[in-house]
Amino acid sequence: MISATQKKNSSLKGKSILTLSELSSEQIQFILDKAEQMKTNKEDGTHLLQGKIVGMIFDKPSTRTRVSFEAGTLQLGGHALYLNGQDLQLGRGETIADTAKVLSSYVDAIMIRTFSHQTVEELSLHASIPIINGLTDLYHPCQALADLLTIKEQKGQLKGVKLVYVGDGNNVANSLMLGAASMGITMEIVTPPGYEPQPSITKFAQLLAAKSGGRVMLHHDPFEAVKGADVIYTDVWTSMGQEQENEKRLMDFVNYQVNTTLLKEASQDYIFLHCLPAHRGEEVTSEVIDGEHSVVFQQAENRLHVQKALLAEILSS
Ligand code: CP
Ligand code: NVA
Repeated sequence: MISATQKKNSSLKGKSILTLSELSSEQIQFILDKAEQMKTNKEDGTHLLQGKIVGMIFDKPSTRTRVSFEAGTLQLGGHALYLNGQDLQLGRGETIADTAKVLSSYVDAIMIRTFSHQTVEELSLHASIPIINGLTDLYHPCQALADLLTIKEQKGQLKGVKLVYVGDGNNVANSLMLGAASMGITMEIVTPPGYEPQPSITKFAQLLAAKSGGRVMLHHDPFEAVKGADVIYTDVWTSMGQEQENEKRLMDFVNYQVNTTLLKEASQDYIFLHCLPAHRGEEVTSEVIDGEHSVVFQQAENRLHVQKALLAEILSS
């Protein structure tokens, strides 16, 4: 049960979520607790978003983010509008600032998936309603919340867990790093040289980790890093918008595949996570993603629960 004091200290009302670094560890914990509560009691909160409209702008494809935000909003009694960026006047050059001002007078919150993170910052600057980042080239905060919930469910705790991310230092890695660092997780990020997460984000995560008792470390040797890992995570080598680099990336990442040989080094009861969609045979083998340690579909389901918790906290009166 979430206490009144906890609730007061953790209020997210009207807040925008752009990176995850805007949430304190208490606020993250609060969202995870609320998501767990909503997951076990599906009837919980069916009127929390009554009369509320969530606009969802997509400049990139999506299965999980689109459907979980839409289904989640409906389950809480609200209404979600799918807005393809190319169908809006934005696609013909209307400014982000003008779009932000206009949409603020029609809907109660905007969830946006786009390329440049600056677009989301600009939208948030000019909007008078909360903005939720549904993935940019730099961050994927809602994914990281679902990842944390899955680790908590599987391992019973977050503090002290050893999480090893193998692959590209991308949007998913950046947000996971911030979330993990806030919650006292020991996170090792293993990338080929040149594919590390952005140094300023790593530095900020290391500051968060110093406060929480966690650690954030960068490596290049997957076999060394994976030793004793409780959680192994990977994501695609080529993210949306990087398709022209695909051939080079396939070569650069060839020694960074998560397969059964690498996983021999992990702890016996490790779990495997992937934000999905996966490129089977590239960053992960089918044997691993379909194997007994994989919890990727539980992780995908958790997108729905954490986002419902987030929307309810941000929007309900
Ligand atoms: N993990 C994730 O964001 O998936 P989609 O691209 O399907 O939304
Ligand atoms: N890093 C991937 C995540 C997809 C959910 C991408 O940006 O394409």
